[in-house]
Amino acid sequence: MTATNTLDIRDNRTGKSYTVPITDGTIRAADLRQVRVDDADFGMMSYDPAFMNTASCRSAITFIDGDVGILRYRGYPIEQLAEQASFLEVAYLLRHGELPTQSQYDSWVHDITFHTYVHENIKHFLEGFRYDAHPMSMLASSVAALSAFYPEAKHITDDQSRYVSIIRLLAKLPTLAAFCYRHSKGLPFVYPDNDLLYCENYLSMIARMSEPKYEAHPAFVKAIEVLFILHADHEQNCSTSAVRAVGSSHVDPFSAVAAGITALYGPLHGGANEQVLRMIESIGHPKNVGAFIDEVKDGKGQRLMGFGHRVYKSYDPRARIVKQLAYDVFKVTGMDKDLEIALELERIALADDYFVSRKLYPNVDFYTGLIYRAMKFPTDYFTVLFAVARTAGWLAQWEEMLLDKEQKIARPRQVYTGYEERPYTHQLDRSHRLKK
Ligand code: ACO
Repeated sequence: MTATNTLDIRDNRTGKSYTVPITDGTIRAADLRQVRVDDADFGMMSYDPAFMNTASCRSAITFIDGDVGILRYRGYPIEQLAEQASFLEVAYLLRHGELPTQSQYDSWVHDITFHTYVHENIKHFLEGFRYDAHPMSMLASSVAALSAFYPEAKHITDDQSRYVSIIRLLAKLPTLAAFCYRHSKGLPFVYPDNDLLYCENYLSMIARMSEPKYEAHPAFVKAIEVLFILHADHEQNCSTSAVRAVGSSHVDPFSAVAAGITALYGPLHGGANEQVLRMIESIGHPKNVGAFIDEVKDGKGQRLMGFGHRVYKSYDPRARIVKQLAYDVFKVTGMDKDLEIALELERIALADDYFVSRKLYPNVDFYTGLIYRAMKFPTDYFTVLFAVARTAGWLAQWEEMLLDKEQKIARPRQVYTGYEERPYTHQLDRSHRLKK
C-alpha cells in the first residue's frame, strides 16, 4: 500500500493513528470500526443522513457527472441514445451491458411482446379501485399483486427465473399502466396489440376506441420513445435505492419494483412532473412569475418544482432534450398555452442569485408535464409514464445488486438519541404526561 492511496486517521481521543486504504476515491466505512476508544466501544461509524456522501454500491450501469451535466448508460451518452436508439434497445443495454446485435434484439423484443398480456383477474382487481384513485397507487398495487400471480419469481438465484421476471415486468408495465388510465377514465380496457412495437402498443392501449387498429401519431410515438429512454435509469436515486434495499431482502422482483414505484410517486422525486404542471397552472400568466419566484425565495410558498437536483449542479442534460422535444410535439398539437410561463420561470430563475448560488437548474421534470398534457395525458398520470420507463433501470440495478458478492441485506446503522434504560410505569403513575 503506497502513501498515495491511503488515508491516515488520528483519533485525538486516544492519540492512536490508523491507515485505511482508498479505492476509487472512497474509504470503506467498515474500516472506521477499528477506531475505538476501548474494547467495549462498538467502533466509529460515519453519519450520513439522506446518503449525501455515501456510495452504497459499485455499479457499472449509469454514469453521471453532475457538475458538468453528463449522463451515460453503459458508457453511451444519453444524447446519442435518445436520438438513435429505441427504448427496448436501451432496456437491453442497461441489463446486459452491451447494445444488442440484430438477433439478440429480435429475441429480446419477441420475448417481451410474448408477455404483454396480464391475467384476467388483474382486471377485476383494478376494477375495485374508485374512479378517482391516483394512477400511481393503482400501478404500485397492481405490480405488487403480480408477485401473487408468479410465485416462481421467488427463485431469484436462478438465472432463467430472473430473466423471465425481467421480461414479464418490462412487458406488463405498459399494459398495467394503460389499464390504470382506462379505469380512471371509465373506459373499457384495451388488450395489447402484439403486432405493434412497444411504445405504439402502449399508446394503442391508452387511446384505442372502436377502430380495429390504432395508429398513433409518429410524433407522439417518437416523444414517448425518447422520454422513456431519458427516464430509463439514473443510478442510485431514491426509487432505485428503494428497489435495491427491498430486493436485498431477497424478495421477488415484482415486490421490489412495486417499492420503487411508491418511492417514485413522491413529489420530490418522480411526482415532481405532476407538481410542475400544477404549479404552472396556479401561476396562471407569465406576468405572475416574478411574484411567484419571490415567494419561493422567501421560503413561504412551495419550491420551484422541476428545479434542483441532488446530483446535477448544472443543467440536467435530459431537460435540454425534453425542451427540444416539447417543440416537436407542439408542432403537432399547437403551442401550449403555458409554455410561456415555463420559459419565463426558467429565464428568471437562471438569472437570479438565489438559484444560481445554489446551482439550481431545470431537471428532467420541468418540461415533461407540458408534453404529456399536450398529448392529453391527465396530470395525475404523468408519473406513471416515468414508472414504466424506469422499470428498465430498476431491473438492471436489482439484478446487478443480486449478483454483487459484496452486497448483503441493506441495513443502515443509527445514532441512538433516545432514553437510557428506564423501568415501565403504570398508567396512573405517568406524571410526565401531565407536565406537557
Ligand atoms: N426551489 C427552491 N429552492 C430550492 C429548490 C427548489 N426547487 N431545490 C433546492 N432548493 C434550495 C433549498 O431550499 C436549499 O436552500 P438553503 O441552502 O438555503 O437551505 C438548497 O437549495 C439545497 O437544497 P436541498 O434540499 O438541500 O437539496 P437536495 O439535494 O436535498 O434536494 C431536490 C434535491 C429534492 C430535487 C430539490 O432540489 C427539490 O426539492 N426540487 C424540487 C422537486 C423536484 O423537482 N424534484 C425532482 C427531482 S428530479 C427526479 O427525481 C426525477
